[in-house]
Amino acid sequence: MIDFSPEFLNVLKSAKRVAVLTGAGISAESGVATFRGKEGLWAKFRPEELASADAFMLNSALVWEWYQYRRDIIDKVQPNPGHFALADMEKHFKSFALITQNVDGLHRRAGSQNILELHGNITRNKCFNCGKPFIDEINLDQKKPPCCNCGGKIRPDVVWFGETLPQSEFEMANEASATADLFFAAGTSAIVYPAAGLPMIAKRHGAYLVEINIEPTPLTDMADSFMQGKSGEILPEIVKWLRK
Ligand code: OAD
Repeated sequence: MIDFSPEFLNVLKSAKRVAVLTGAGISAESGVATFRGKEGLWAKFRPEELASADAFMLNSALVWEWYQYRRDIIDKVQPNPGHFALADMEKHFKSFALITQNVDGLHRRAGSQNILELHGNITRNKCFNCGKPFIDEINLDQKKPPCCNCGGKIRPDVVWFGETLPQSEFEMANEASATADLFFAAGTSAIVYPAAGLPMIAKRHGAYLVEINIEPTPLTDMADSFMQGKSGEILPEIVKWLRK
């Protein structure tokens, strides 16, 4: 049983508008490696070296292979108690927005409804050249990106470093953050902008800011409550309080 502060519990009980920003840490307990973790096959690459148009132009097979590797993992894993708690939390508030930087689709699989996917979704593909969605099924053994009718290479429909976020999702995320009275940042290193700016927008507009992470981040000093630990353990405990 986690000992939440009375201040947090008061805010939780009275909140009407809640927004949550999630990052790779929320899927860690499902077995999806985070971007900046030190474990794993791909740890020798920085995310910027793989998740960018420059990287794809330089070595499309390498970038494609990394995404195929991630897709293979995502196919095999299941949402964890953190994902399920957020899907449940949504039912308790008048307004609830789940803003995620994750491309793994696990929030949807856990039953969340109002999801804003700021960095796209790894299950979709599009042409690197003309941008047209590519709807053919991708075989996970495919080592190189297929080609579009226009001759361009196919890439995952995710947002890469240097690219702009999907405009309507980002506008809705901004709005949800600016109008939230309670904001959770869970499992994110809070260093990749513009997503990392959303908790600050929320705080500036008066939201109570809660951070859930296994370790401190650049956001921690600004948080009204820093809950150190695993999101898959802390979020279900929060939902228990909502059910009381
Ligand atoms: P990171 O890998 O940068 O950070 C993951 C965070 O989760 C870290 O702060 C960990 O301490 C924390 N963490 C790990 N396990 C956790 C657990 N069980 N419970 C709670 N927290 C845990 O991932 P993001 O912040 O999502 O962008 O990275 C942001 C963006 O950078 C990603 O969307 C991706 C990446 O490059 C693009 O690909 C454009």
